[in-house]
Amino acid sequence: MLQPLSILVLHGPNLNLLGQREPGIYGTTSLADVNRLLEAEGLKLQAKVFFIQSNHEGILVDAIHEAVGHHQGILMNAGAYTHTSVALRDAITGTNIPTVEVHLSNIYRREDFRHHSYIAPVVIGQISGFGVQSYVLGLQALVYHLRNQS
Ligand code: DQA
Repeated sequence: MLQPLSILVLHGPNLNLLGQREPGIYGTTSLADVNRLLEAEGLKLQAKVFFIQSNHEGILVDAIHEAVGHHQGILMNAGAYTHTSVALRDAITGTNIPTVEVHLSNIYRREDFRHHSYIAPVVIGQISGFGVQSYVLGLQALVYHLRNQS
């Protein structure tokens, strides 16, 4: 029997606009639909997924702190905070919760300021550029990591 896992999915700023926001870059799938996809994938992986979206850095920091003791891993698209937030990075290192970073777009094919992630050096890994599939791949990778770590 696999141990059921609890995963927190964190969506950062402007991701509430998914589906209508720059569809040429981010696609036409809404955030609610992304969450539904992740819920379905979670069922297959025997992982329960919980979702938080916020446009506020401090709320995301609090969510990471509050994940301790409740969730075994975090799947995070920090949006623009990826490129600016030492606080989110410190929250990940401070809580030591295994985290996978995802991006819908390939941030390395875009503007220079998107090429640097403050988060990337402190996460298990990053998946970038596969649209909504980045989230699904990220969830699979996180669950695989959690089930296979010694
Ligand atoms: C994003 C990429 C970021 O550069 C941007 O600020 C976002 C979305 C992505 O999913 O591709 O808000 O994280």
